[in-house]
Amino acid sequence: MTMLTRRHYLALNTSLVASAAIPGPLWAEGHDPLVLKASAISQQIGPDQTGPTSLWGYNGKVSGPEIRVRQGDRLRVRLDNDLEEPTTIHWHGIRIDNAMDGVAGMTQQPVKPGESFLYDFVVPDAGTFWYHPHYRSWEQVARGLSGPLIVEDAEPVAVDRELTLLIDDWRLTENGALDEDSFGHGHDWSHAGRLGNWPTVNGSPQPDIKVKRHERLRLRLINAANATLFTLRPEGFTGVVAARDGMACPLQEITEDLVLAPAQRMDLIVDVTTQDTAILRLTGRENFVLARFPVTGDARTTQLESPVPLPSARLPEHLPVKQAKQVSLTMEGGAMRWLREAVVGHQYDMHDRPEAGTKLSGTDLAQHKLYWALNGTAGMPADPLFDVQAGEVVTLHLVNQTAFPHVMHWHGHHARHMRTGHWRDSLLVRPGETEMVTMQADNPGDWMLHCHMLDHQVAGMGSWFRVRA
Ligand code: C2O
Ligand code: CU
Repeated sequence: MTMLTRRHYLALNTSLVASAAIPGPLWAEGHDPLVLKASAISQQIGPDQTGPTSLWGYNGKVSGPEIRVRQGDRLRVRLDNDLEEPTTIHWHGIRIDNAMDGVAGMTQQPVKPGESFLYDFVVPDAGTFWYHPHYRSWEQVARGLSGPLIVEDAEPVAVDRELTLLIDDWRLTENGALDEDSFGHGHDWSHAGRLGNWPTVNGSPQPDIKVKRHERLRLRLINAANATLFTLRPEGFTGVVAARDGMACPLQEITEDLVLAPAQRMDLIVDVTTQDTAILRLTGRENFVLARFPVTGDARTTQLESPVPLPSARLPEHLPVKQAKQVSLTMEGGAMRWLREAVVGHQYDMHDRPEAGTKLSGTDLAQHKLYWALNGTAGMPADPLFDVQAGEVVTLHLVNQTAFPHVMHWHGHHARHMRTGHWRDSLLVRPGETEMVTMQADNPGDWMLHCHMLDHQVAGMGSWFRVRA
């Protein structure tokens, strides 16, 4: 795979990049549902000289429109499927009514080409969320289907402006086409997943977003990539992390690079301190400027006082951790630690797999591109990971015995990360480490729990749990 980044990145730096189209939000008001139409589109996301890329998008663009709704409101969205294959929409991180969770084969039938589905649900928490398909998501998300869902706080937060930055990366060929040949490559599936070679923000490469000096911004960051851990460094700003995965957290001053794993969100409250151009930089593997914030004029003459924390989420203050049911989830397999054997699980959106319930050797599993297992099953197990009455408290021990990081995501609930106290719906677990999260399982239904490195999910890392009403 040729990396586009270096050479084209230089070209990009010297050319004039069009200002970011910060998309106008779709407001969820009134009686008619909002419409999200999924279809094939073409959009300039690559380097200027390569021309537009064929993608899939909602309402004709990548990333999908920003949906805004107020906390406690009812959101109605009609999905129109104009693709040539089935799809669904999952509202990531929303403590949603189970029937509206958008998981094909579990909470709904997939929406066939030419058909529609009405999502209708109440949003209990204010914060930064996002939406994406839950049917062949490893491919549908990588082709461009995702967008921000912003739930506004009941009381406005004291900032001058908010900016939603949906960060994604793409695997483009030298001429700017989406690299389709590599979809489903066993190497990606058994290693770190489908990593891109070309990052964008809200579907634009390196957008220019005008700001003012001493302006206070709330930056809502969303990682919509299949597999990439973004390491972010804001330059020309000072500020704090104020929320993670949509939920307020104690303010934490930004003193080091911020790691944002796939599906995670992070809200920053920052003040523009430079007089020149502030930058959101991607550090690590590539040193890449994700977005530029040219400063034009002053918002005020001096910097504001320190920000105050966001209103906290409606989650239990004190979890009875000692009474929690203890559940462990062991991640195994992948390159370098190959599976010895595992039971084949179910995979709703893959049709060429051996029958569920069969125990196979790692080599045989690999023939079917099953490389990973959760508690000894590669794919969705017949029995839930846990089965509890609504209200029970569960501590999950997420044990990573593989040589790769994983980001475990559970549906319908937030859980408290025991080491940091943060409420999460998606947690990064580094190789060889164990992390614990505790949730009050109070949202009835069957819910998925899976690795949000979407190529790992399809290659075995999927499970589910049951909460009885
Ligand atoms: Cu963001 Cu199960 O997904
Ligand atoms: Cu993973």
